[in-house]
Amino acid sequence: MAYVLGLDLGTSALKGLLIDEKGTIIGSATADYPLIHPASGYSEQDPNEWLKACEQVFESLQTTVADFGEQLAGISFSGQMHSLVVLDEEQRVLRNAILWNDVRTTTQCETIMADFGEELLAITKNIALEGFTLPKILWIQENEPELWGKVRHILLPKDYLGYWLTGTMHMDYSDAAGTLMLDVAEKQWSQAVLEQFAIPSNYLPKLIDSSGQTGILQPNLAEKYGIQQEVKIFAGGADNACAAIGAGILSVETGMVSIGTSGVFLSYEDQQLPTYQGKLHLFNHGIKDRYYSMGVTLAAGHSLSWFKDTFAADLSFEELLAGIDAIEPGAERLLFTPYIVGERTPHVDSQIRGSFIGIDTNHTLTHFAKAVLEGITFSLKDSQQLMETIAGKTFEKIVSVGGGAKNPDWLQMQADIFNSEIVCLTAEEGPGLGAAMLAATGLGWFEDLQACSETFVSYRPGALPNPQNVEKYQKLYPIYQKVYGATKVISEAFCDE
Ligand code: XUL
Repeated sequence: MAYVLGLDLGTSALKGLLIDEKGTIIGSATADYPLIHPASGYSEQDPNEWLKACEQVFESLQTTVADFGEQLAGISFSGQMHSLVVLDEEQRVLRNAILWNDVRTTTQCETIMADFGEELLAITKNIALEGFTLPKILWIQENEPELWGKVRHILLPKDYLGYWLTGTMHMDYSDAAGTLMLDVAEKQWSQAVLEQFAIPSNYLPKLIDSSGQTGILQPNLAEKYGIQQEVKIFAGGADNACAAIGAGILSVETGMVSIGTSGVFLSYEDQQLPTYQGKLHLFNHGIKDRYYSMGVTLAAGHSLSWFKDTFAADLSFEELLAGIDAIEPGAERLLFTPYIVGERTPHVDSQIRGSFIGIDTNHTLTHFAKAVLEGITFSLKDSQQLMETIAGKTFEKIVSVGGGAKNPDWLQMQADIFNSEIVCLTAEEGPGLGAAMLAATGLGWFEDLQACSETFVSYRPGALPNPQNVEKYQKLYPIYQKVYGATKVISEAFCDE
């Protein structure tokens, strides 16, 4: 049976997931690469490391899967979003990629918003944030003018990998939307944005749908890995779009909550684009002519791991969280806000910091652990609430993925705070599964991604809302929401010190 390979180019590793036509996982391989931090707030990576990692993944699959060479039919990608790769006229990498989690561009973001904020929002549907690509280009223009003079190609990580595999340069709409240079509704590079920021349009690659074919695997690479037949390569998508595809988020009434280091609340958007005014991110989806919106809690799983490392280093997560179900919702009047590294949604605020409010002599370590989980979940609810109030959505079902899906008490808390049924994936493969589904659909194995998800994605029950807990959380949530305003002044005063 033929195989597709989903390559997930993440922030710390490249993961390859090999799947057959029935959706069965045949093999997987991972290769890590380092992050480079040349200065505080800087986060870079050497693009050549991604290529080396890809070679390692191919080698590993070739050794572990006997018929890899005969059966591989298609490859697609999921990529870390926004990270800037610049090449010269001979397609050579000019500098390390500046990654999505690099925060050196605050000044550039302020300039973009002051000079062009309204137009930018109207065209790209997003506001300028440090992580996005456009401010990184401006930073290079201002700080490395000589290098900027040599730039001829601008790509995102997965597209550089795609270029190496095929010899052709493309970018799909879901990743292009995260550059802040795409006219999201018109699906073309925005001449207005490019002119405003003096970016020649021929530096940008050809735009294509996520399941569109960009080329075939170059013969030298095919030969090296024992591949005899033609392998078709498909454009792929942004990691959040691919995670949504891999979780089957293909209709408006199903949301997704993903809790990793950061947390994401994501919703599918039909053709009718809501006007979130930059309060949520709004990007083109990996599904043709569809979109998705998402809000980001910067420190979701990070808040819990920080709490454990700082206050309960010798306990396991299971031990730390044992007993939280015996404590009433609200942790007996203890509230936590997860702003320990600043926040993105709903408050774009790099200065705000976290807090515990209401500390009382009754509170034990377990109360604090429960408050941390509740604070993270309330913060994700902020994004859900924006979708409900601005776009009038109601979520019949929310798919929970990542660390938040591993603990049954946290799943129950999610059902109670989101007031929605929570389901989990039977096998969690992350964005690589979405990438493999894009290749499978591109190959014509399925009519569309919906049909593919019926074969590739399956769910297990998570939790149903408990009406009494829902009521308690509905009373607590407005109190949680007040903490941001009340602590903002304090965080600002700390910054002025
Ligand atoms: C989304 C974002 C992150 C990256 C992680 O806007 O910055 O989720 O996509 O790779």
